[in-house]
Amino acid sequence: MDKLDILRLDRDHVWHPCTQQKDHESLPPIPIARGDGVYLVDVDGNRYIDGVSSWWVNLFGHNHPRLNRALTDQAGRIAHHIFAGFTHEPAVELASRLCRLAPPGLTKVFFADNGSAAVEVAVKMSFQFWQQTGRPQKSRFVSITDAYHGETLGALSVGGCDLYREIYRPILLEGFRVQGPDCFRCPYGLHRDHCNAECFEHLERQVTATQEQIAAVIIEPLIQGAAGMRIYPPVYLKKLRTLCDACSVHYIADEIAVGFGRTGRMFANEHAEVSPDLLCLSKGITGGYLPLSVTLTTDAIYDAFYDDYAAQKAFLHSHSYTGNPLACALAVEVLKIFEEEDVLAGLHPKMALLQRQASRFESLQHVGEFRRCGMVAAIEMVQDRETRRPFPWQQRRGLEVYRQALARGALLRPLGNVIYFMPPLTIAEDELQTLLDIAYEAIVAVTSVP
Ligand SMILES: Cc1ncc(COP(=O)(O)O)c(C=O)c1O
Repeated sequence: MDKLDILRLDRDHVWHPCTQQKDHESLPPIPIARGDGVYLVDVDGNRYIDGVSSWWVNLFGHNHPRLNRALTDQAGRIAHHIFAGFTHEPAVELASRLCRLAPPGLTKVFFADNGSAAVEVAVKMSFQFWQQTGRPQKSRFVSITDAYHGETLGALSVGGCDLYREIYRPILLEGFRVQGPDCFRCPYGLHRDHCNAECFEHLERQVTATQEQIAAVIIEPLIQGAAGMRIYPPVYLKKLRTLCDACSVHYIADEIAVGFGRTGRMFANEHAEVSPDLLCLSKGITGGYLPLSVTLTTDAIYDAFYDDYAAQKAFLHSHSYTGNPLACALAVEVLKIFEEEDVLAGLHPKMALLQRQASRFESLQHVGEFRRCGMVAAIEMVQDRETRRPFPWQQRRGLEVYRQALARGALLRPLGNVIYFMPPLTIAEDELQTLLDIAYEAIVAVTSVP
């Protein structure tokens, strides 16, 4: 197929995610032919640095020799088989490695095949736990404003991004939504590097007052990704763990985006030295090769489901591709690469490079903040720096930065007025510098227009 055929068939038959299809009239999708390290290469041979790890999934670059080999080795044995009544080596190796690596106390692994499904599993497990331990009234979930946990109905129900959920509100589950941290526009006039998460008072008040109705609090630890890479301090999570213990409420940590090294540690909860009751992981788990997700939990939760069949306490959640061997083999290889190539230690110079950019970007008239957590950095563009007034969303300044960056050879998919970097962890320093330079030029080009 040539490029025009691909674009014609795409236009005629394909409905893309998170897209107003009409936008393709002026900005058609880019047909990608292959990947090469941190680069996506299109059918014309143009190269784009994948500054967002292809929706936060890619960890070690595209077309990775070790991952390619792990995939083909496993394909030569078996691609998939039923996971009820059967098991396989990649799944058990992955589960045991994850339990060793994860925050203490997480001993059991339930498999699913995407992030939203992992959240559904966590929500259903928590609900059913309370049903089966004599407190059936604990059936509601607490989340914070602008939270994002996926887009299936259960995951949307515990989310807080109106952009994705407002139209579906009549068919969502009812829960409690509480004001979360907003460090860029902190109502307390504090800074995330020095505060004591004073804003935690909202969550504390809600959970304390309604604890008898609450099954769990769900949160994205340290970075609220889809909300615009909002970064908040670890002390918030410490307080959350203490509160959940005091009120007999589960803490569900959604590390789907931030797990696997993005924050500079293997898991974001490590920064706060806390363990959740349920931990959701996906995205980077297979290095960005295949869909897979897991929900880790504790013996205490697992034991509430373990009984004679007649007691009818089993957790009956199943997906056809549960525990897919290809995906599990990739995930095992990902964990071996982390260990054998000391990936986390290699992040330090790159995190320092990112941090050194703060003053460069913040000197721009329309940059309100440059923020960073680990290997994730974000630039919030504003119309007015003094008041932090945002550019009106209708102006779509972020989309303009996206266009400008593409023309310069980088994929920087914005979140509204926020331009962010979440590159593959293995990006080289010179590639990272190029990505930052392109972002700088693109932002200057877009914000110098009134
Ligand atoms: C924090 C978080 N939770 C859940 C999800 C949903 O994952 P998926 O898109 O695989 O359903 C995402 C996806 O971006 C996410 O960032």
